[in-house]
Amino acid sequence: MDIEWKRKQITSYLNTKWLGRSLLYMEQLDSTNIQAKKLGEEKAIHGTVVVTECQTAGKGRRGRNWISPEGNCYFSMLLRPDILPEKASMITLVAALAVCKAIEEVAKLDVRIKWPNDVVCNGKKLCGILTESSTDELHLTYIVVGIGVNVNQKEFAPEISHMASSLSLLKGEDIEQAQLLGSIMNWFEMYYEQFLETQDLSVLLKEYNALLINCGKDVKLIEGDAICVAKAIGIDSDGGLIVQDVNGQKQTIISGEVSVRGLYGYAE
Ligand code: BTN
Repeated sequence: MDIEWKRKQITSYLNTKWLGRSLLYMEQLDSTNIQAKKLGEEKAIHGTVVVTECQTAGKGRRGRNWISPEGNCYFSMLLRPDILPEKASMITLVAALAVCKAIEEVAKLDVRIKWPNDVVCNGKKLCGILTESSTDELHLTYIVVGIGVNVNQKEFAPEISHMASSLSLLKGEDIEQAQLLGSIMNWFEMYYEQFLETQDLSVLLKEYNALLINCGKDVKLIEGDAICVAKAIGIDSDGGLIVQDVNGQKQTIISGEVSVRGLYGYAE
């Protein structure tokens, strides 16, 4: 398919002011995050988006690979927010909210967020988000938010098939990637602007918690070899997960320090 045609197709679904107005589409890339970071160093404008059909070196969290065959959505957004570096991780939660809304809108599936930023349906992961930032002394120079959504993938490797699925497998029909990409960007721009007003998640708390699969449920908290069970209450305005132990004692979990799992599996 012609590259310029594909770029225009994605753009036709956008109603953003600045996000994706500069959009690079490639049939294949190593990783959209790698390319967006290069553009970040080259002073590309805030809101630049890199999209590809497949990745040869897709990156997941914690140094994992993100297997990236054709048929899914892989893209990265380059942002230059004027915020403190420690606030950057909250943008990942903003992105998860946007992905959920877009999937609901385009695929009409009932999706949820597994804290902090996995999007799940029927207990299986549909989307992963990797945010990387660059700082210059005390300031953020840019953030790259990379999003991979399993859209039309029909098969998963045996080691992940119990916890991963795609929109087309759940829906029983293929979903147009360009429409989903456009919708994610539309939702993201709106939520991102709301986030910037307060530089925290206070305005988005209610909507995020309404989609949080763990809300009000017991979860397993895994920290190294230690596992304990607590009830998840919801996120606070900084994106931490508030949990309550059997004695009613509340504690806030910070992303990256503790893994959260459902009692019966990956999500629930
Ligand atoms: C995770 O481990 O859950 C995060 C996966 C993030 C994958 C996306 S695909 C588009 C972007 N480019 C990458 O190399 N990674 C992110």
